[in-house]
Amino acid sequence: MDLSYDGRVVVVTGAGNGLGKSHAMEFARRGAQVVVNDLGAAGDGNGADGSVAAQVVREIEAAGGTAVANTDSVEDGARIIQQAMDSFGRVDVLINNAGILRDTAFHKLGDDTWDVIYRVHLLGTYRTTRAAWDVMRSAGYGRILMTTSAAGLYGNFGQANYSSAKLGIVGLANTLAVEGAAKGIFTNTIAPTAASRLTASVMPQQMLDALGPEHVTPLAALLCHESSRENGGLFEVGGGWVAKLRWEQAQGAMFKDATMTAEALADRWGEVTSFEDAHHPASIQDTLQNLGQKIGMQFGLAVQ
Ligand code: NAI
Repeated sequence: MDLSYDGRVVVVTGAGNGLGKSHAMEFARRGAQVVVNDLGAAGDGNGADGSVAAQVVREIEAAGGTAVANTDSVEDGARIIQQAMDSFGRVDVLINNAGILRDTAFHKLGDDTWDVIYRVHLLGTYRTTRAAWDVMRSAGYGRILMTTSAAGLYGNFGQANYSSAKLGIVGLANTLAVEGAAKGIFTNTIAPTAASRLTASVMPQQMLDALGPEHVTPLAALLCHESSRENGGLFEVGGGWVAKLRWEQAQGAMFKDATMTAEALADRWGEVTSFEDAHHPASIQDTLQNLGQKIGMQFGLAVQ
């Protein structure tokens, strides 16, 4: 087996079902010591069942692997990381995967439904990652995988709460990729499509059959390996298909000497929105350099 995880400690949140369970089983099969976190919540986040994480640990052990169960909510992410340290003494990989849905059209969305989705997805990812960050910085090594969604990347009816939290996770990953690089900590993000209890009611059976979580997990196993140099990447993945995404910036229109009016913009709207000869800025420096060229001066950002 080429990509071994021997000696590595991998924390997978929401590892009791679906994608997280698939990830946990695969990392254990590859030799990692795995922390199987799962609150045992229903798909809408209600309830808790400690047996869900324990069951996955039993399956990993039955297959000859090593794992411990953790039943904290990701909102208490520091406890998950503490348990990894208490059990195995290190954290090499963190997979932020736990998730729930509370779909409703925006005109019916209330604060409760907004908050619970924000708390599990964005706050939970922040809390768990923030605790792991200290450990990884001290070790000078870490791999973090975030889980976003096509709903966040493109929008989806009824998922204003979820898509906001999921794209917030991409923003977090973008900055962690910048801040972690010098410390050997690489952060990447996947937007999976997979059969799970979250998608069982919205996808036809034929689609579910083609989209098993096992078609997503190999990307997690590659991105989180010590040999991977990928950092700050965003990938769509499902059913055996994997593709990287990036921003695309039109050449745009430059209006010199205060000639930009709404009317002038309307006249040149084709230039503003055309992706012919588009640019693909990969960093804030890239886009500032580009802006500087357009307006004929050089500027950059002070690095803290
Ligand atoms: P799933 O429902 O099968 O698994 C999610 C797990 O997270 C469950 O076992 C649940 O108990 C656990 N969980 C929920 N709240 C938790 C909390 N506060 N703390 C700890 N654990 C908690 O769902 P699935 O589909 O495997 O989803 C995994 C991730 O992938 C989620 O973040 C989801 O938003 C994301 N995703 C899934 C897609 C799909 O097509 N299945 C599409 C896009 C994103």
